[in-house]
Amino acid sequence: MSATQVLLIVVPVLVVLAVVVIYLTTRSSDAAGLGRLSRETKARDAAVGLTASDDIEMVTGREVEKAAVLARIGGDIVPVQDAPAPIEPWTPPDLEALGVTRRQFLNRASIGLMGLGLAGFGAASLAFLWPKAGGGFGSSVKLGTIADVNKVLASSQPAVNFAYYSDAQTYIQPFPAEALEAAKLVYDERIWPGLEAGYVALWQKCPHLGCKVPECGTSQWFECPCHGSQYNRVGEKKLGPTPRGMDRFPITIEGEDLIVNTGVVIIGPTPGVNTTNQGKEGPSCTTGPGHG
Ligand code: FES
Repeated sequence: MSATQVLLIVVPVLVVLAVVVIYLTTRSSDAAGLGRLSRETKARDAAVGLTASDDIEMVTGREVEKAAVLARIGGDIVPVQDAPAPIEPWTPPDLEALGVTRRQFLNRASIGLMGLGLAGFGAASLAFLWPKAGGGFGSSVKLGTIADVNKVLASSQPAVNFAYYSDAQTYIQPFPAEALEAAKLVYDERIWPGLEAGYVALWQKCPHLGCKVPECGTSQWFECPCHGSQYNRVGEKKLGPTPRGMDRFPITIEGEDLIVNTGVVIIGPTPGVNTTNQGKEGPSCTTGPGHG
């Protein structure tokens, strides 16, 4: 799954989570139901013979207080009539002085904190998943001029004909011109510009279980040390448990520069694809199914 696809999933999920949190923290209290018997309670009362007429009349706290005062003074409460006071001229309230209730404060604080948490989590997710704009794996990486790449191919260690670029997690391999016609029949056209220029960019990750696949100077193949999968010099499957050839990236040539787009992974060729007919050129470097 590409980073863009992951983003398309993560962003809507974060939005839905934010909406749910805001809804849960701002909805009106369930206190509206206080003082009423639930359906289950009424059912239990009915089961033991209580009817609605047997319900205890609900008395508010204010009524209890009033009854206690009446009992203490032994009569009815007579409100004291103050002399009429002059009417104060109305002045608008000072909004600063009004303040907020404790409920409002707690609601706003919880919404604010959850919002901050969600925003931080979302920003961290986006920063992690967003294709890098400044180079490095996951973006377009300029590897140097074609002359630079050819120099690496000619002098690379431990095996010549393999050019490894750790920043891009990529091998830039020479692709023979005589194999171009066969390659265009089986390969995604996004890698054709690289093939036409004489190169193929292979992702270092083994399609079997993800180990880094090193080159072998003697066999001139790629040989995975984990479970013995082997690939020819252009990453086509030759031996082992791997389900396909090595995955690859599009190459573009801009002027003299060779640029590999590691943000676009093109799935490796199916087993049996063999465009170069390159056989093993010497002993293997690893033990396993292809050792020899
Ligand atoms: S990870 Fe490479 S063969 Fe298993």
